[in-house]
Amino acid sequence: MLKKIKFSILLVFLALFVENNQIIATEIDLQIKQTIPVIDLNDYKYGDEASKSKFIQEVADALHEYGFFALENSDVDTNILNDSFDSAKTFFNQDHAYKLLYQNKYPNRGYKSFNLNNALKKPDLQEYYHVGRNVNDEMLVQLNFSPINPNVWPDSPLDFQTNLSALYDEFDRSGQYVLEACSIAMGENADFLSKMTAYSDSILRFIHYLDVPSDLYENLTWKAPHKDPNLITFIYGITSAGLEIQRPDESWLKVEYIPGQVIVSGSNMLENLSNGLFKSTPHRVMTYRNQSRYAIPFFYHVRRELDISPREKAIERTGGKALYPSMTAEEALEGHHWFGEKAQ
Ligand SMILES: [Fe+2]
Repeated sequence: MLKKIKFSILLVFLALFVENNQIIATEIDLQIKQTIPVIDLNDYKYGDEASKSKFIQEVADALHEYGFFALENSDVDTNILNDSFDSAKTFFNQDHAYKLLYQNKYPNRGYKSFNLNNALKKPDLQEYYHVGRNVNDEMLVQLNFSPINPNVWPDSPLDFQTNLSALYDEFDRSGQYVLEACSIAMGENADFLSKMTAYSDSILRFIHYLDVPSDLYENLTWKAPHKDPNLITFIYGITSAGLEIQRPDESWLKVEYIPGQVIVSGSNMLENLSNGLFKSTPHRVMTYRNQSRYAIPFFYHVRRELDISPREKAIERTGGKALYPSMTAEEALEGHHWFGEKAQ
């Protein structure tokens, strides 16, 4: 009898051991390692002075070496994000003819259609919706700068305008921590970049990459290689892998999809202002078979009339010579081209 009990206890231990090992193995399999630096915003928001300095240094190193990093605990309200997802998916699921009613009303506002014409060398495998800042005219007059384009809002779904407007404001608010860190890392006051982007024409782009059979469009990218013309870009709400960034040896590094991480990248205006201390890195989005994808980049822009010439302290930190041109944000955008087409 005693032998039987001992044997049973042994079996239970063995079963637990095997089960635990399986659990551990499964967890290890599921742990995908991010390929670009991962930085925790909580170090800056809630940390002591040493944690804040660590965060600033990590942001500076990542933007210098990769031009990209993955931000954890981004501070975006997930309810606002989820509500916007519901509205945007409902909009994209409507008839193509209905969606086209909201295209081409103003530059960088409203709907932009896909184009799957097989005869094209590069069929456009994405549709998106552009949302800009809702600015009241009195504020523009007080700040003495030219008005920006009004938003274009669809009638359906009814909550689209409310939800996407709230999302725009939420992105603009929550990104300020990283703007502060970049400003300090450039040797400027913490509010240097926040002041330049206040009431600017920053743009939210809600992108739906289409589920297209890859035998129809083999070896195509959802988005061809390019650099962003704005100041700094945050990519929220990513639903699957696809993003790749170019390394200095011209190889392509796949950025892993890890739910909850926000991908942040330095863009052309930040590279110019920082005299190359922070890099604007070419990137692309690869298609995946039988899969659609969503992503919501928020492009921080500098107000058009402001000077984006390399700043003195950044020049000191990058060898003492200005390596980038003196110009305004407006001039930078006018000179920026993607694949022969004018950029935003
Ligand atoms: Fe981009």
